[in-house]
Amino acid sequence: MYSVLQSVHSYWAFLALIVLAIASINAIIKSFGDKTYEPNDFRKALFTLIVTHIQLLIGLILYFVSPRLQLFSELGMGGVMKDAVNRLYLVEHPFVNILAIALITIGYSKHKKKLTSQGKFKLIAIFYTLGLVLLLSRIPWSTWLG
Ligand code: HEM
Repeated sequence: MYSVLQSVHSYWAFLALIVLAIASINAIIKSFGDKTYEPNDFRKALFTLIVTHIQLLIGLILYFVSPRLQLFSELGMGGVMKDAVNRLYLVEHPFVNILAIALITIGYSKHKKKLTSQGKFKLIAIFYTLGLVLLLSRIPWSTWLG
């Protein structure tokens, strides 16, 4: 169960980061020009929301079935925080990524309420890019690609 979820979460991460990057770059470029918001822009924003939420769900399940979780009772909160690797997996990665996905969700719902194309592109550009930066900052790069 754990290893299956682990590989799904690991591969789905590629998809999540790629669609999020595409939606962010698309919105950044179009928010500078005088572009009209079109159905394809909406599809990009919505697809990104769905894919990142699926990653969030897989991550949450993975977290609670992870053998690493026992470290909280074995070492205590202080003990976990003292070690950079444990802190990344048990605290920073989950918390910062939940925050990132919350920002993406807020950006998505706010952009839907805006009436102008520029207003929509700006909201997606800001919230999705912020989410992307937060996600990239807390990926366990050495184990993921190694
Ligand atoms: C879009 C958001 C997320 C992305 C892009 C992402 C990406 C990743 C990546 C690339 C890894 C490393 C996988 C590997 O080493 O093969 C990982 C590991 C992990 N993630 Fe996430 N993650 C996200 C959200 C979350 C959330 C919200 C949680 C928990 C609440 C979570 C829990 C975990 C856990 C427990 C591991 C460690 C798995 C292991 O033992 O190797 N992730 N994640």
